[in-house]
Amino acid sequence: MKTIFKEINYGGPEWTSAVKLRESILREPLGSWFTNEELAEEKDHFQIAGFLDHSIVATAVLVPEGNRMKMQRVVVKEDLRNLNIGSEMMRFCEQFGSDKHVAEMYCHARDTAVNFYLKNGYEGVGDYFDEDAIPHLKMSKKL
Ligand SMILES: CC(C)(COP(=O)(O)OP(=O)(O)OC[C@H]1O[C@@H](n2cnc3c(N)ncnc32)[C@H](O)[C@@H]1OP(=O)(O)O)[C@@H](O)C(=O)NCCC(=O)NCCS
Repeated sequence: MKTIFKEINYGGPEWTSAVKLRESILREPLGSWFTNEELAEEKDHFQIAGFLDHSIVATAVLVPEGNRMKMQRVVVKEDLRNLNIGSEMMRFCEQFGSDKHVAEMYCHARDTAVNFYLKNGYEGVGDYFDEDAIPHLKMSKKL
């Protein structure tokens, strides 16, 4: 079955499911949760979700920053990884950015995800730095 990607509305039931998925993958293992401030900021961001059989299996958040976008909170449900869903979501997000005349997509990649971004055409910028006590690398791709 094919994953269908689309933009979802901030604050709706789909957004609530998307937040739950990314929180369970990105925050709970660190013993932390999204703060009310972090969630409130998302109202100014684009919400992307991948649906498989009507349930959300992948999410990303795109932050508009002038002529570039920051891609963050990128996750694929654990039991569905290595099936190319993450890479398909990259393509969707990049097309989404291009349609909005964005010239560059970038992210702060966790060290464990650097290979995934390299395979998707992103290049490392600068040195590793700590964010949430995890080594990260800024990675960028011209659209
Ligand atoms: C990073 C993440 C989003 C990737 O999602 P994914 O759906 O597994 O990504 P893909 O399937 O497109 O690619 C993953 C790997 O599978 C490989 N792959 C893709 N299709 C494949 C196939 N048909 N057969 C075998 N391998 C395949 C890719 O080459 C890639 O290899 P890598 O592990 O060396 O990078 C996912 O692992 C995840 O949610 N991780 C936890 C959260 C996280 O770290 N997010 C990023 C924060 S910066």
